Order: sequence, then structure tokens, then C-alpha cells
Amino acid sequence: MNLDAIDRYAKSLIKEAGHKIRVSFFSHIQIDSKSNANDLVTNIDREIEQFFISRIQKDFPTHQVFGEEGFGDVVTSLDGVTWILDPIDGTMNFVHQKRNFAISLGIYVDGVGMLGYIYDVMQDDLYHAAKGKGAYYNDELLPQLEAKLITDAIIGVNAKWVVPNRALNHHKITELVLECRGTRSYGSAALEIAYVATGRLDAYMSTRLSPWDIAGGLVIGREVGISATNLRGEELGLLKQETFLIARPELHEHILKHYIELKI
Ligand code: IPD
Ligand code: CA
Ligand code: CA
Repeated sequence: MNLDAIDRYAKSLIKEAGHKIRVSFFSHIQIDSKSNANDLVTNIDREIEQFFISRIQKDFPTHQVFGEEGFGDVVTSLDGVTWILDPIDGTMNFVHQKRNFAISLGIYVDGVGMLGYIYDVMQDDLYHAAKGKGAYYNDELLPQLEAKLITDAIIGVNAKWVVPNRALNHHKITELVLECRGTRSYGSAALEIAYVATGRLDAYMSTRLSPWDIAGGLVIGREVGISATNLRGEELGLLKQETFLIARPELHEHILKHYIELKI
């Protein structure tokens, strides 16, 4: 299999899709909700996913492809080549802010992440990696991440976890927020993972992410020595929703040990 050719193909597809999304702001965007009133989806999420899937199925008929909006294959195993796509990660930002959303794509071979992409559509910034070849922010090779103390760290957390919630002991998260240097919440899991990979954030966590939120980012993060697990410290699979923590190596362990008490 020619992974270099697939890499070039994926990058050009992503750039073309990004252009379509930017142009969509000149048209009427239809906004609907899915599981609840705040879980937004638009016609553009659907159109972009269909664009990717029809191209991939035409050009790589033996590959599996699935994405958030459900137009792809029903995937029950990662055997063979699997493309895992979020056409717009951060739809709430797409709708409300018209920025801070991304296309997220991971390409896995027999369950191993080989190629990963996170494209910040409005900034025209591509975070990308090929397994064993390093991770890049556009054309810039990203350095390996070094250890950092919690007191020097900026952590990506959601403000909803410092009030009583069903997933986490909020007292512990409050301690984390008080002890770290600062917190941020950008509203796109893929971009937040890219920010950890580039050192703009030192850790990012979530109580529920799907394979398409993390598939691209994990390939990028692993190239810079990131640690990523679920909030129980277990290895991540890519076939179901899971809790999630990604951070600089030692910080990852420290956060899991001292601040995470899961209730789910
Ligand atoms: C969501 C965003 C958000 C995260 C949610 C995701 P979507 O993805 O990444 O930041 O907190 O868990 O579902 O729905 O905008 O693709
Ligand atoms: Ca998403
Ligand atoms: Ca999405």
C-alpha cells in the first residue's frame, strides 16, 4: 500500500472540503439538533461527510470509511484500512462563532493509526502526521513534548465539571482548576488535541468522545510523545464513545492519579 500517495490524496481532499465549508457561509445554513437541543448539526456537516465518503468509496473501494453523520460503512472491526472522519468537529462553533472548528480524519491499518489530520478550516492550518515520520503544524515539524508540572500547566477542561455533574467528582476537578496555571475550553475536541500536540495546551480531557473526535489527533499526538487513555487509564479503542484524557506524559499520570474520580 502506498501510504505517501494516500497522504497526498487525503490532504487534497481536506483542503477541498475546507474550501467548500468556507464558501458555505455565503449560503443559507440549515441548523437542526440531534440528541438534545444543544447537539447541533447542519446541512454542511452532512454534505461535507457525503463529499468525503463518496470520493473515498470511489477511489479506494476496498477501504472502510465512517463518520459522525452516518453516511459511511457500518464498521465493527478495524481490520484492513479504515478512514475515520468528523466532517466538522465543533459544530456549535461553526454555527455560533464561524471559527474554531475543524475537519478531523484518521486513517488506520489493522487498528494502527498511520495517518492523522486536523484542519482548522478558518485559519487554514493543517496539523498532520504519518506514523514514524513526525507530526507537523503546516510545514513545521513539531518537537517532542517535555514533562511539565501541574502548577505550570494550562488544562483544557469544561466549566460544567466544576459544578455537580453525573460523570466526575467535581470537588476533584475544582482542585485541578485551582492548582493548574490556567484553563481553556475551545469547543472542538480535535483542535484541543492539536493544541496539546503543539504545546499550546498541556492536557485536555472529556467525559465522552467518539472515534471521529480523536482518530486523527491520536496519530498526531503519538508522534510527539503524548499520553492518551480513557479516564480510567485504559487504552482507547476506536469503535465506541469513551472518556478521554490526553496530556504530556508525566502530567497525564499525575492528573489521573490526583484529580479524576469517575462516577460513570
Ligand atoms: C463535539 C466537540 C466538542 C466536544 C463534544 C464533541 P461535534 O463534536 O468536539 O468540543 O466537547 O464532545 O461531540 O459534535 O461538534 O462534532
Ligand atoms: Ca466531533
Ligand atoms: Ca461533527
